[in-house]
Amino acid sequence: MSANDDVQVLQDAIRITIGEIHTSMPGRIVSFNPSTCRATVKPMLRYHLADGDILDYPLIVECPVFMPKAGNARITYPVRSGDGCIIIFSERSLDEWIGFGSENDHDPRQYDLTDGYCIVGLEPIQSISPDNIELINSGTLVSVTPNNEVNIIGNVNIKGNVNVDGNYTCSGKSRMNGSITCDGDVTASGISLNSHTHGCPHGGSTSGPN
Ligand SMILES: [Fe+2]
Repeated sequence: MSANDDVQVLQDAIRITIGEIHTSMPGRIVSFNPSTCRATVKPMLRYHLADGDILDYPLIVECPVFMPKAGNARITYPVRSGDGCIIIFSERSLDEWIGFGSENDHDPRQYDLTDGYCIVGLEPIQSISPDNIELINSGTLVSVTPNNEVNIIGNVNIKGNVNVDGNYTCSGKSRMNGSITCDGDVTASGISLNSHTHGCPHGGSTSGPN
């Protein structure tokens, strides 16, 4: 065997070894269980074998889906079949972390296709607002602009008190099921509640309300 053959053998061995090291790739959600926040994910790339064959990657099952969370705060979103994601393959077995494995029998797996977790939202191309932070769920939208504005499309239901440090304008009708307390005057069709008078049937007018 010549030196060139040795190099070729070594290069082939390296290529085969690298082919078994899985790092990350784009995927697509096949199914999602919101009660466990785990998904079955289809890798969107194809597996190139050292002999030239090209195969589909297997489905990644029981794949934990990342949701932003810290302390008692978290942001969740309803993951759907067909959503794009990035699959990250752990450099060591996830079994112990997930709860499948034993702390006394450490799994030697490395960079394995079974040890994936994913972050939803990766698409080959998508259009987003260039300026605003947007919270969107179908036709409902909350948009936070860089110009001190929050714009909401949709009905707003608030369970709690509302304190407005500023003016309030309503282009629709207002209805209060409780009482109204007003420290200032109330004007209805140009007539002041505080200072209006009533006409008397025999002429003149009344004094203001008391
Ligand atoms: Fe009156």
